[in-house]
Formats: sequence, structure tokens, C-alpha cells
Amino acid sequence: MAVSIVVGVQWGDEGKGKVVDYLTEQADLVVRFQGGNNAGHTLVIDGQKTALQLIPSGILRPGTRCLLASGVVLNPFSLIEEIDRLAEINVAVTPERLGIANNVQLILPYHLAVDRGREAELAEGKIGTTGKGIGPAYEDAVSRCGIRLCDLFDARHLASLVERNVAKKNAYLSRVLGTSDCFSADELLVELNRLAEFLRPYATDVSIEVSEAVKAGKEVVFEGAQGCLLDISHGTYPFVTSSNTVAAYACVSAGVGPQIVDSVVGICKAYCTRVGSGPFPTEDFGVDGQKLREAGREFGTVTGRPRRCGWFDAAAVKKAVRLNGIDSLVITKLDVLSGFKKIRLGTAYTIDGVEVNDIPVSPDVQDRLQVTYEDFPGWDDDITAVREFSKLPLNAQKLLQRIEQLSESRIVGFSVGPDRVQTIRM
Ligand code: GDP
Ligand code: IMO
Ligand code: MG
Repeated sequence: MAVSIVVGVQWGDEGKGKVVDYLTEQADLVVRFQGGNNAGHTLVIDGQKTALQLIPSGILRPGTRCLLASGVVLNPFSLIEEIDRLAEINVAVTPERLGIANNVQLILPYHLAVDRGREAELAEGKIGTTGKGIGPAYEDAVSRCGIRLCDLFDARHLASLVERNVAKKNAYLSRVLGTSDCFSADELLVELNRLAEFLRPYATDVSIEVSEAVKAGKEVVFEGAQGCLLDISHGTYPFVTSSNTVAAYACVSAGVGPQIVDSVVGICKAYCTRVGSGPFPTEDFGVDGQKLREAGREFGTVTGRPRRCGWFDAAAVKKAVRLNGIDSLVITKLDVLSGFKKIRLGTAYTIDGVEVNDIPVSPDVQDRLQVTYEDFPGWDDDITAVREFSKLPLNAQKLLQRIEQLSESRIVGFSVGPDRVQTIRM
């Protein structure tokens, strides 16, 4: 596995961080390629829990270099808080361990205000964003007024960019969104100039670093955030995040050609969750959904919101396999299904009695989807100590085999608990 891309295949929180940590035992480089601190990746090592938002999950493997590629949106204030949190557990995020693309776009305080103001304006129709300013920062990137890491190192240029952006955002916040937020360009500049000193040693050319690592035959892992169904182009729009979460974007973001990629690993829960608004065809509103939430501790890492819970959705996973070019799947949280008398697998959809194989793109059609389920008998045994496929209860083995068939991909691993040692290769 010289160069691999790890992506979520559902609506995020599939356990990507945990699997990236597992896969990076030998990795030289771990590259985060999109999203920002809307992500929350939880790793448990020897019982110690670490939640990461921006810094790649390779950071807990001493000797692995971590990179943030250009497609990430970076809140520099949050980054420093995260570096400080890691220092408290004796993980030193030095410029030797972390490199940040010179051309990464920054999330600044006015982006958070715009994000929150928009959500308030949408009221019942809100997206349910994490409120971290992700969408507004990507918008600035596309509309070519964004401020990038490299801009911090040119004081005069930075001053003019900040003045222009703050003036426009203040006007938008008060006149269009009607909020009372008002930012001072001078104050922001003082803070950014202070941050520039700290961040300068981290700045790097990610394209060159990744290309050289590949040429030298090093092992590179790209870490995705969010999930395929939150992809801005292919997800359940408009209830999506503002970046491309699919594997192909790893190359765009890092500035390398697609021929370097050897494998794409999809991470998938044995059931399904979603945070925020939008369609979720296999959502379970009853006691089973509640039980999944409690057993799986399904509360958001970033916002603490209860996650919506439901069943594995084969049509959605098949779509993700196609969109990402996934050649292997890791099924997480199998242990959460222990104790269920009946486990449901969504196998297909129908609309007005006609079978459809894919989530349709139009929201009003998405709302009319009916799911066809297959019901499986469960198991009572606690499987958290299982370390081999053959030691799983027979019903759990059969469930994984059926998930593999339905997904039209190969399962290469599964996990039975949050700890590093509870991920099992098949
Ligand atoms: P990510 O955003 O895809 O990295 O996933 P999150 O870390 O947000 O959410 C996954 C949650 O499930 C975390 O709290 C993990 O510690 C936990 N987790 C991961 N794999 C397993 C597993 O196999 N079993 C159980 N019970 N928990 C798991
Ligand atoms: P990880 O990497 C789950 C969801 C939000 C909201 C939508 C848009 O931990 O899997 P945004 O703040 O990105 O504009 O919000 O996307 N969302 C996530 N859901 N896991 C995530 O990240 C998410 N990041 C964003 O809840 O519905
Ligand atoms: Mg998460």
C-alpha cells in the first residue's frame, strides 16, 4: 500500500481517524486533503482518547510527518488550540511533524459569523452546519477574495486583503443577515501578524513534498474528512459540506497526478449515522435508533449533537464505492450491533413502487424514497475481545459477508471497539 486514500462512505463519523491511525504504523506521510475543523476524528490508544479536528491522525505515530494540503480550510486560531491540547498529552506538533500548504485558505472570525448568521436566517430549513465557518471560507476561495497562509507572510499585502474582506463582511452581516457582528480590521491584523510568526515554520509546498515522497517509494496515506454523501458535488445537496470529500480530490488538493494512487479504502459503519439536516433513508426513529445511539455513543465530537441513527444502506454505499473508486472497505462498530435481536440492512430503494438503484439527486425525490430491507438475526455475545473473523459469532460473519456482497467491494477489515487494537485485518 504505497499510496492510499482513506475516505468515509456515509455521512461522516465512520471511524476514519481510527482506521488512519491503524494504517499508519508504517506510513511516512499522512495528508489531510479537505474540510477543516468541522471534522472530529477520535482515536483511542491504550485507553487514552484523543480527538483531532485538523491535524492528521498520523500525529500519534512518532516519526510520521503530517501535512495539510491546499484543499483544507484552516482556522489558525483553532489549529493553535489543537496543538496546545496535544502538547498537554506530550505530543509535540513541531514543524518537523506538521507541514501546512502555503496555499491553504484561512478560516477567519468573520466566516464563523457568516456561517451562524446564515443558519439563523434559514431557521427550520437550516443545513445544521458545525458553525465553524467552513462554507463561507470555501466561498471566498472560489470567489477569489480568500486569504491564504502565504498572505500572512507579506504584511502590506495582508493589510489590504484584511481591510477589504472585513469591510465587505461587516456590510453583509449587518445589511443582509441582520446580525450585530462587527469586526475590526486593525484588531484582526494585529492577531494575524502575531500568528504569522508562529505559523511560518510550518509552511511548506505540499505538492513537492508528496511528489518526492512518492518518488522515493515512501508510504503515503491521504486522510479524508466527512463522508461521501456530504460531498459538495455528489452528496445530498444542499445538505452537504462545502468541499469535495471523494477520493479524487486528494490529488487535486495535494497537487499531484492521479496515477500515484495505489488504493482507495472506504470506511463504513455496520449501521449508519448522520449529523445535521437532510435525507437519511434508513433512519430509525424508534427504539432501535435510540439503542444504536446509546450503544454506539453517537454524539458529535465537534458539536456534541446527538447523531441521527439508522441502518446500513447498501444503495448509498454502492454509490460511494463507485464515486470514490473504492477497492477495499473497513466495517467499523460491529460491536455496537451486539444484543440486537434483528439487524436490518437496507438493500434497495423504491419510488412509487419502482425500484431505483441510487440516491436520486433531487431533494423532493429523495424525500419519497422507500427502503427495501433484509432482516438478519443478531447475536448476544460481547465481541469486543474478538481478534479474528472466524471467532465472530456466525451471524456476525454472515452479516459482514452480506454487506460485502451488497456493497460490491471487498471487506479488508472490521472493528469491534474504539481502541487501536480492536481493528482487525481480514
Ligand atoms: P471519524 O470522524 O470518521 O474519524 O469518526 P469519529 O471519530 O467522529 O466517530 C467514530 C466514533 O466511534 C469515535 O468515538 C470512535 O472512538 C468510535 N469507534 C470507532 N470504531 C469503533 C468501533 O469499532 N466500535 C465502537 N464501539 N466505537 C468505535
Ligand atoms: P468527520 O470528518 C459528520 C456535517 C454537518 C452538516 C454538514 C455541513 O468527523 O466525519 P459544515 O460545518 O461542514 O458546513 O456542515 O456537514 N458535517 C459532518 N458530519 N462528520 C463530520 O466530519 C462532519 N463535518 C461536517 O453536521 O450537516
Ligand atoms: Mg467525526
